[in-house]
Amino acid sequence: PPPGPLSGKQVLITAGPTHEAIDPVRFIGNRSSGRMGVALAAAARDAGARICLVHGPLAVPVPPGVKAVAVDCAASMRTAVFEHLEGVDLFIAAAAVADYRPREPASRKLKKDTQTLTLDLVRNPDILAEVAAHRPRPFVVGFAAETHDLHRHARAKLERKGLDMIAANDVSAGRAIGTPDNALTVFWPGGERGFAAQPKETLAPALIRLIAERMAEAPVT
Ligand code: C5P
Repeated sequence: PPPGPLSGKQVLITAGPTHEAIDPVRFIGNRSSGRMGVALAAAARDAGARICLVHGPLAVPVPPGVKAVAVDCAASMRTAVFEHLEGVDLFIAAAAVADYRPREPASRKLKKDTQTLTLDLVRNPDILAEVAAHRPRPFVVGFAAETHDLHRHARAKLERKGLDMIAANDVSAGRAIGTPDNALTVFWPGGERGFAAQPKETLAPALIRLIAERMAEAPVT
């Protein structure tokens, strides 16, 4: 890889949605395309890092020069992340992980023989919070999608999950999720920086530069 601000660094990125099985043919999913995580993988590669991209079902191709690990659900994403965590310097959680999964996926296709159907859902593990709590741990960057009180909620998430940085996007009025453009406000314990709305492909290198700057200054934990 060419020299750059992440030269010699190992970077692990999660991207895309997760699909949580209801039965053999149905799932609970979300509108994430994986474009932000994929753009970050390409930008980190261009910054000189070696990349492992753990991704759910993507609407965009995996960039060349990036090692990809395809998963479907949150549980398998968590397993893949911990299998690839050793030696990682930077972890970026850009995946839109489902918060809940059906408690017990049906082994046969559900029949429409009732007028209503209730799904019993259980919480998924918080992969980002678990990586942040792991020791030794990489520099940890999370995302937050907020519809209101963006600053307050993002700062609270930064603290609660024990992150080094959080990139918050405003998803009110259909912005950000599943779209080509994004605007971000990035928070860390001692500061913040805003990035104007732009394609994820130009936003990603700018975010990678900021992350590399912060990593250079952050105390090792
Ligand atoms: O708590 P919330 O879902 O808003 O946090 C979003 C951040 O946490 C994103 O970085 C997302 O990738 C990560 N996350 C995760 N595992 C989950 C839920 C969210 O890694 N189960």
